[in-house]
Amino acid sequence: MKIVAGNSNRPLAEAISAYLNLPLAKCQVRRFADMEVFVEIQENVRGEDVFIVQSTSFPTNDHLMELLIITDALRRSSARRITAVIPYFGYARQDRKPGPRTPISAKLVANLITNAGADRVLTLDLHAGQIQGFFDIPTDNLFSAPILARDVKERLAGDRMVVSPDVGGVVRARALAKRIDAPLAIVDKRRERAGESEVMNIIGDVSGHSCILVDDIVDSGGTLVNAAEALLASGAKEVSAYITHGVLSGGAVSRIANSKLKELVITDSIMPTEAVKVAHNIRVISIAQLIGEAIGRTATESSVSSLFD
Ligand code: R5P
Repeated sequence: MKIVAGNSNRPLAEAISAYLNLPLAKCQVRRFADMEVFVEIQENVRGEDVFIVQSTSFPTNDHLMELLIITDALRRSSARRITAVIPYFGYARQDRKPGPRTPISAKLVANLITNAGADRVLTLDLHAGQIQGFFDIPTDNLFSAPILARDVKERLAGDRMVVSPDVGGVVRARALAKRIDAPLAIVDKRRERAGESEVMNIIGDVSGHSCILVDDIVDSGGTLVNAAEALLASGAKEVSAYITHGVLSGGAVSRIANSKLKELVITDSIMPTEAVKVAHNIRVISIAQLIGEAIGRTATESSVSSLFD
C-alpha cells in the first residue's frame, strides 16, 4: 500500500503516514508558469493499493484539480486500487438545487472524482450523509464525534449541554450529546440570504449550563457567533464550540477572537492558517489517528464502522 499527498494539507498527510509507519510515496505536485497543475509519481505504484490524502479546501478548485490529476496519474501508472481520502469535502454544501437553473455541484464533484479513476472515497463528517449516494463507488464517511467527545470529557466539567446551531445539525449534535451523556438544545436559525445568519430562538432551557455548540463547518463564523450570543442572552454560563471543519474564510478568525465564545475547537481536516494557530480562543485537535486507522483497516479489508461502536 502507498500514501500519496497533495498540497492541501501536507502536515496531516505526514501525521497519517507516521501513524501507519509508512513514508509518503515520492510524488511531485507542482505548477507550470501558467498555474496548470503537473503531477509526477516518482516511484513504482503498479499493483499497489494507493490512498491519496487531499482536502478540497481553499483554494478549493486548485486542490480539487490536484486530486483529479493525481488520481489520473495513478490510474495511468497501473495502481490496483485508488482511494481518495478527502478529510474536508469541498462543495458539499451545494448538495441540492436551491432554486431554478442552479447546479448540484457536490454531485458534479463526485462525478469528476469517480471519472478520474478513484475506486473508493474516505471522508469525514460530510455536510450531508446523502452525498455518499452521489458516488457509485464505496464511500466511507468517518465521524469525528469520538475524538471530540474525548476532548470534551478531558476539558469541560460541570453542567454540560450540547447545542445544535441549527435544526439541520440536530443528528450530529445528538451523537455527541449521547457520547458525553449531556442534554441537547437547538438554536432555531433562519438564514435570509446566503452568507448571513440570524438567530431566531432557542429550543430547550440552557440557563446555568456550559453550552457546547456542535457543527460540521465553521465558515464565516456568523452562525457560531450569533448562536453563542443568543445562548448567553438566554442564561448560558459559558459557550464553547466543537466543529469538525475550520473553513474560516474572510474575517472569521478575528470575528471569533472578538466574540464571547470561550473556545472554538476544530480539527486539522483543513490545514490551519497562521492566524488560526495564534488565535487566543481557537484550538486544533488532530484527526490523523482516526483517518490513519481507517486507511489501515480499508487496506486490510477490516471493519471501519466498528471504529465508532
Ligand atoms: C450549515 O448548514 C453548516 O452546517 C454550517 O452551519 C455553516 O456552513 C456555517 O457557516 P458560517 O460559519 O458562515 O455561518
